Amino acid sequence: MQPVSWIRDAILYQVYPQSFQDSNGDGIGDFQGLISRLDYIQSLGVTAIWLNPCFDSPFGDAGYDIRNFYQIAPRYGTEEDFQTLAKEAHARGLKIILDLVAGHTSMDNPWFVQEAENPQAADANRYIWKNREFDPREGPDREDFVSNFFWHQPALNFGYVTPTEPWQDPVDAPGPMRNREELRNIMGYWFDRGCDGFRVDMASSLVKPMDDPDARIATIALWQEMRKWMDATYPDCALVAEWSHPLEAVHAGFDLDFMMHFNAPGYPSLFFNEVGSLPPMEGPCYFDARGKGSLSIFQPEYLKQLAGIQGKGYVSLPVANHDFQRLRCGPRGWEQLRCAWVFFMTQAGPPTLYYGEEIGMRYIENAPAKEGSTLLGITAPNAGTLDGERAGTRTPMQWDAGPNAGFSDAPPQDLYLPLDSAVDRPTVEQQEGDPESLLHFVRNLIQLRKQHPALGSDTGYTFLNSEEAPYPLTVLRESEDQRILICLNPCGVRKEISIQMVGTPSKVLLNVGGRVTPGEGSLHVSMEPFGYGIFRLRSP
Ligand code: NOJ
Repeated sequence: MQPVSWIRDAILYQVYPQSFQDSNGDGIGDFQGLISRLDYIQSLGVTAIWLNPCFDSPFGDAGYDIRNFYQIAPRYGTEEDFQTLAKEAHARGLKIILDLVAGHTSMDNPWFVQEAENPQAADANRYIWKNREFDPREGPDREDFVSNFFWHQPALNFGYVTPTEPWQDPVDAPGPMRNREELRNIMGYWFDRGCDGFRVDMASSLVKPMDDPDARIATIALWQEMRKWMDATYPDCALVAEWSHPLEAVHAGFDLDFMMHFNAPGYPSLFFNEVGSLPPMEGPCYFDARGKGSLSIFQPEYLKQLAGIQGKGYVSLPVANHDFQRLRCGPRGWEQLRCAWVFFMTQAGPPTLYYGEEIGMRYIENAPAKEGSTLLGITAPNAGTLDGERAGTRTPMQWDAGPNAGFSDAPPQDLYLPLDSAVDRPTVEQQEGDPESLLHFVRNLIQLRKQHPALGSDTGYTFLNSEEAPYPLTVLRESEDQRILICLNPCGVRKEISIQMVGTPSKVLLNVGGRVTPGEGSLHVSMEPFGYGIFRLRSP
C-alpha cells in the first residue's frame, strides 16, 4: 500500500478546539474563532490541522465520548461552520484532519440508550453486553458492558478474535459488521464535507481482547479493509493512527502513526521528566539539563520502526499533545527548548506541533480538572496505570496582551480552563515582534526542513552516537545529493564527542554554541550547554 501523496511532506498542527480561539464569548474555543486564526496557522508553514473531536458529546472525556458522530457539537458551531472552516483552510493550502473515535461512544449516544432500554432485542449488538439481565428501567451498571477507556465509554462491538464467553461475538457477527459499516458511513459523511483525513483514536483497540496479539492481527485486517475502501472511494484522504507502533499501524493501512508513551517504547525516555501528566516510565529523560538520559531505548526502536515502514508510511514524534505534558514543564525551561525543536523538526517523518508549543507555553501544574482530564487508574498498554492530570496541557492559547490573552471575551472565570497566570507568559503578539523569539525560530526550522530534501520524510536517518557517549546528539540525514549533520546538546554543561568522519561541514544552516572540527578520520563535535547546529556536509 502506498501512503497518500501529501502525507510525506506534511507538517501537522494539532488544535485542541476548546482552547484555541473563542469567537462568541462563551469561554470555549469554536470554529469561527479557529477560522479567524487560519492566517496565523498558515504563517507557521504547517500543512495540515488535526482537530480533536468536535462532535456532539456530553464531554465526559473532552469530546472523546461521542453522542452523535454526525453532528458538530453546538459549542463549536454548525456543520456549515465546519464546511466554511474546511474551505478556508483549503484556500490556504491546509488540510483538515478530524478525530475518529472508532472504539467507543458516550453512554448518552442514542445507540447505547436504545440497547440499554431493550437489551434482549436481537439487534442490540452494537455494544458488548456482558449481562443483559438488568432491569431496563434502572439501566445497566458498569459491570454489564465492556468499556474502552473511562467506564462511561462503552466499547463498540468489533467482536472477539476467539470468543470464549457466550456474550462474546466473533469478528464477523452481525454487530461487528454493522459497526464496520458505520465507521465507513461516518468517515464518508465528513470526507464529503471537506475533511481530508482522520486521526483514529485508540486505533489498535477494536477487536478484543485488546492485549491479545491475535486480536491485534484481526484489528489490522479490519483497518486494511477500511483502507481498501478509502483507496477506492476517497483516494486522497489520509488515515493517521493513535497506535504508537508504526510497524503495525502502517501494515494496517495507516499513512502515519505517532510514536508516544505506549506500545513501542522510546518517547518517554526522551521527554518525560518528573513533572506532568505522565511519569518518566523509562528512566531519567534525555532532554534534561542534568544529562542523565540515554538513547538506548529510543534509538534502536526508532530505527526498527523506520526500517519496517520504509516507503509505505511514516512515523511522527509529536511535540507534546493533549494527553501529556508540554515540552516546557518542570525543570525544562526556556533555554532548553530550542535544541528539542531542532530534534523535532529534523525527524525522519512528518512533525506534529501542538498548539502553543511554538511560543513555549508552559505545562500548568495544578490546573483544575476539566471534562475527564484526570487519568485516574486508566491503564495503557506498556505504560502501566496512569493517574496524571491532563488539564495543564490544555489551557487557552496565548495570543496577546489583551483580556484573557486574546483567547476570549468571556469573564475570566468562564474560560474553559484558566490561563497561565505568569506575568511573563509568552504570547504570539510579543513573539511576532521579536525576531529572536521561539516563534520565529520554529518558523525558520520549518522552512529549513522544507528547503532541504535531506531533512525530509523519506530520507536517511543515522545516529552517530555510541552507547557510551549519548551527548551531544549527532544525527546524519541524507538524501541522494545532500548530507546534513544535526548536533544538539540538551545538557547544562558542554559536551563533546568524536564521530566517524562523515564529511566536512561546508555550510552552516544554523548554529548556536557548536563547533565541528575535522580530525584524522573523524569529526570532533563540541557543543555548549543547550547548543544546537545544523551543518551541510561535503563528502569526506
Ligand atoms: C486517547 C485520546 O487521545 C485521549 O484524550 C482519550 O481520553 C482516550 N483516547 C479515550 O478516547
